[in-house]
Amino acid sequence: MDDPLHRPPIVRRVSELVGATPLFELCRRENGSRLLLKLEQYNPTGTAKIRMARQMVVDAEDRGLLRPGGRIIESTSGNTGLGLAVVAAERGYTFTAVVDHHAAVDKLRAMKALGAELVYVADDGDEELATAAREEFAEKLAAESDNAYFTEQHNNPANGAGYHPVARELDAALGGRIDVLIGAVGTGGGLFGTGKVLRETVPGVRIVGVEPKGSIAFGPPAHDYYQSGTGTPEGATIGAMVDYDLLDEGAKVGDVEAFATARVVARHTGLLIGGSAGGVVYEALTRMSAPAPGAVMVALVNDGGEKYMDTVFDDDWMAARDLLSPQVECEVAELLAKLRRPTPDTPQEWT
Ligand SMILES: Cc1ncc(COP(=O)(O)O)c(C=O)c1O
Repeated sequence: MDDPLHRPPIVRRVSELVGATPLFELCRRENGSRLLLKLEQYNPTGTAKIRMARQMVVDAEDRGLLRPGGRIIESTSGNTGLGLAVVAAERGYTFTAVVDHHAAVDKLRAMKALGAELVYVADDGDEELATAAREEFAEKLAAESDNAYFTEQHNNPANGAGYHPVARELDAALGGRIDVLIGAVGTGGGLFGTGKVLRETVPGVRIVGVEPKGSIAFGPPAHDYYQSGTGTPEGATIGAMVDYDLLDEGAKVGDVEAFATARVVARHTGLLIGGSAGGVVYEALTRMSAPAPGAVMVALVNDGGEKYMDTVFDDDWMAARDLLSPQVECEVAELLAKLRRPTPDTPQEWT
């Protein structure tokens, strides 16, 4: 696999642009503690998931499960599908994405633009998250098709392995000075794939998972939620990558707080992050009030906000679902302002 930290100046495949994503310092306290965001939207397709998509395909090829001209099938909320669409186009496969209307429309459109075939398991207008139905359908379709491979991201070790380079990138950037790794948990690949390798070089690193309120990986109660791409809804199987032995703490963040954070971060820093990243950053900010001197927390930002203009960043969509809360946005803005000092023009001693 290519080494993103030593990328050649000219590449021939889009997937060679994966990795070596930047770190953004969102907060730095007087005692030197910092909150850094690992901006995975700087990968092709604007999300971390292309890391694991490529790894799942390479792994299937190595194991003889995917043969030339074959068909890749996956149940996806969009970001995994975008990655698979790129890798399929590069390597001469067809790709069928099994989707529902809970997925962000822009992700679905982009998958199509990249040549993916979309198969819906829900009727038009049905916005409900249909993870279990999607997975069942994808499995059946793969069993019925010739030369087809269901990548099965929830249950595929290559998903977690796709994120091992994230740990190496963090280590290279921070020289092992990382105290907390916090990230969203859907399949678990991103947080636990990174965390597993990071623990080898930084044994004391705390690993904190974040899922939407209503998701079940960190316990009940189950209910619907709007954060897209993350969590485990009732009826779906908790991903095999979710490694409770690695997890120090599991936190739950509501849609209102997650989306308010994404909106406030955009207005106050110019950085567009997605709704699930809003949940992670909200949880990270609440933990920044009293960190140890010099402590470094890294939050994994799974994707950017550009894909959520019609949802998280649309006042009417938010209000129609009772998600818009000026009060919560105000609280998050105050917290951010308190923690987010100094600004870039603050004198030298901060740098
Ligand atoms: C926007 C978004 N956030 C969070 C996640 C969760 O990541 P993981 O499946 O690696 O746990 C995903 C996964 O698809 C995602 O697309």
